[in-house]
Amino acid sequence: MFPERRLRRLRRTAPLRRLVAETRLGIDDLVAPLFVREGIDEPQPVASLPGVVQHTRTSLRAEVAALRDLGVPAVILFGIPTSKDPEGSESWNPDGVVQVALRDLRDEVGDDIVLMADLCVDEYTDHGHCGILDGHGSVDNDATLDLYRRAAVAQADAGADVCAPSGMMDGQVAAIRAALDESGHTDTAILAYSAKYASALYGPFRDAVDVQIVGRGDRRGYQQDPPNAREALEEIRTDLAEGADMVMVKPALAYLDVIARVRDEIDVPLAAYHVSGEYAMVEAAAANGWIDGDAVAMEHLLAIKRAGADFILTYLARRAAEALAG
Ligand code: PBG
Repeated sequence: MFPERRLRRLRRTAPLRRLVAETRLGIDDLVAPLFVREGIDEPQPVASLPGVVQHTRTSLRAEVAALRDLGVPAVILFGIPTSKDPEGSESWNPDGVVQVALRDLRDEVGDDIVLMADLCVDEYTDHGHCGILDGHGSVDNDATLDLYRRAAVAQADAGADVCAPSGMMDGQVAAIRAALDESGHTDTAILAYSAKYASALYGPFRDAVDVQIVGRGDRRGYQQDPPNAREALEEIRTDLAEGADMVMVKPALAYLDVIARVRDEIDVPLAAYHVSGEYAMVEAAAANGWIDGDAVAMEHLLAIKRAGADFILTYLARRAAEALAG
């Protein structure tokens, strides 16, 4: 009798398909990236990220409360300060925009949602790089670690559950872990952006945080080179040895092979960042009527989980959670 195997049998009805699904996407898989901007009275839309805004203190509180009500387990905060300088000193100012927001949110939601803080200085430097520039316009790795230590302590003092270093400096996880421990924040966790590629998909994010990178205008001198996958494993192993509690691959869809390889090798929680450009492409095609945006969005998030991510940082978090809540 041919065919011998009938694989279509289990695809016949929706409950059968549900029963045998190998991968499930749930609200618990979602982390919402949120922008908070100092000195504004009304939320500001971000043109290249439809549906995403720069929040005021007040609108941020409301958004996080709504995410908490939907059951989203975590948010990650990015700040846009009113003043920038060569060192990005607002990133460790106790009254800097993210520190103020963290205190507001702790007050608003208590321990009901995980508060993560992106830990970098690029939103705070006037040149847009992720650290201090040396005399030749390149980022000075070791001098930058001092800035990250200060920012980590400021974020933890303000109530961050998780610091998420995204600057791709060598030794950043060890430096931050030491600074947190020395300041008594032994319970503050580190989510390391370990395998963060120098991607063209971050464009809309830079609009969202008002960052223009001077000089060559890219981060290829410190973020990972897209051809390299084995190197991502070296980054991950190094970050784990330095004390990372969780690691991340970023972006997500163009790096599903990297997510899958990392998943095979490590047993700590693995995050993937579905970045601004990935979101913007879906929104733009959907706005043109070329694709069903919601369906594509869910398919993309599911693919990231299937590749092996435990959770996903995504601008789709709220909409996906609403859809998943039914
Ligand atoms: C750096 C940072 C970036 C993103 C997250 N953290 C930008 C960059 O490396 O240039 C990008 C996220 C996105 O594109 O959604 N602080």
